[in-house]
Amino acid sequence: MSQKVSGVKGMSDLLPSSAGGDVEVWQFLEQRSREVLRRYGYGEVRTPVLEETALFVRGVGEGTDIVGKEMYTFTDKGGRSLSLRPEATAGLVRAYIEHSVQNQEPLTRWFCFGPMFRYERMKTGRYRQFWQLDVEAFGAKGAPQDAEVIDLALEILRAAGLTGVRLELNSIGDSECRPAYQKKLVAYFEGHRAQLCADCQVRLDRNPLRILDCKVETCRQIARGAPALLDNLCDPCRQHFAEVQRLLTLVDAPFTINPWIVRGLDYYVRTAFELIADDPVLGTASAVGGGGRYDGLVQSLGGPDVPGVGFALGVDRLRLLLQASGQKFAPEPDLFVAAVDEKSFDAAFGLAARLRRDGLWVELDTRGGSLKSQMKRADKTGARYALVVGEREVAEQAGELKPMRGGGEPRRVSFAALPVILREAR
Ligand code: HAM
Repeated sequence: MSQKVSGVKGMSDLLPSSAGGDVEVWQFLEQRSREVLRRYGYGEVRTPVLEETALFVRGVGEGTDIVGKEMYTFTDKGGRSLSLRPEATAGLVRAYIEHSVQNQEPLTRWFCFGPMFRYERMKTGRYRQFWQLDVEAFGAKGAPQDAEVIDLALEILRAAGLTGVRLELNSIGDSECRPAYQKKLVAYFEGHRAQLCADCQVRLDRNPLRILDCKVETCRQIARGAPALLDNLCDPCRQHFAEVQRLLTLVDAPFTINPWIVRGLDYYVRTAFELIADDPVLGTASAVGGGGRYDGLVQSLGGPDVPGVGFALGVDRLRLLLQASGQKFAPEPDLFVAAVDEKSFDAAFGLAARLRRDGLWVELDTRGGSLKSQMKRADKTGARYALVVGEREVAEQAGELKPMRGGGEPRRVSFAALPVILREAR
């Protein structure tokens, strides 16, 4: 026997199921999100999963865990260093610059659905291939754009029925106020260097802000005593942050301020936020989304001085939440058509095809078989009704429409009336 080949660790297959499998939940999430994104006027963009490694090194930041430890990087046959995208923002910014979008419109609002890749230590809700819904708005530097994208994120969660997610908000300053704050922070942590974990000791030299976000308990405790960036913002950043909060309050978007949010990517300025779900099904992977403002990013990647703000939702984590919520995602076929015997199979097959062309979801057992086995299959598919086709039904062009659940009585219907009746029954 040949040896089995397994899938890559940390990368899962999503399969459909008549009982509501991963794919059905997925489609529900995607469809609800798309509907909300349309209402807010965001257009879909599809960029490649591979980009030049330099894009992420310069965009996301060399000192970040994502770029430093987690990228899938390889050299292609032409000797170029390429990486599977660990996130979508850098690629969308590249596309924005490359297509000179700022010359065509002053305000651009994009979204993208797709797989991202990070070589992370796996646990519940943390995978090496995971999906994001990424949203970006280019061209508006004022607080209304921050508030709009945050409101949009919350509306997507609401539309999916995910009510247990809370919004945590922070401002991480800009190039005016952050350097001075960073100095204070380094001075504070230097006094605790020996107690910091090995990673944080490196962060202290390379990316001290990230210590605030460390999950190691001793580091967390030390970080709680550190000066907070919120107390060290310059006036323009403070005003911007106040305005974001005012607008969120205006649209009834509840939030809490968490001064310890720093985000794991280097491009952020001012607004930074996370969407947190404290559901045990996620274990410690409680962030179902995150984002913020990145005003210098477009320029630092060789584009014009265009501001931006956006977020990404982790679709896999949202799926876990939905599956745990007890909601039902199995869509129901309208009808199962069964053939009494082999002689009637063609008639059943033809009827199913006609009804499908009419827009109905019709199931039929293409293996044929006994009526009993076909009815067993009907049950499995979850179809609302079944109709058995035999010689008499063919002659009369009518049959008994049998409800599969709820115990209703079968009723006699003409084949011609089936589309209307079945649509009404949805
Ligand atoms: P991020 O916080 O790195 O931000 O990722 C956003 C979300 O993706 C996380 O909150 C989480 O739900 C999900 N996620 C991240 N890593 C994994 C993983 N290994 N397995 C499963 N889910 C994961 C960004 O990526 C930014 N590009 C967001 C952004 C857009 N900022 C501005 N615009």
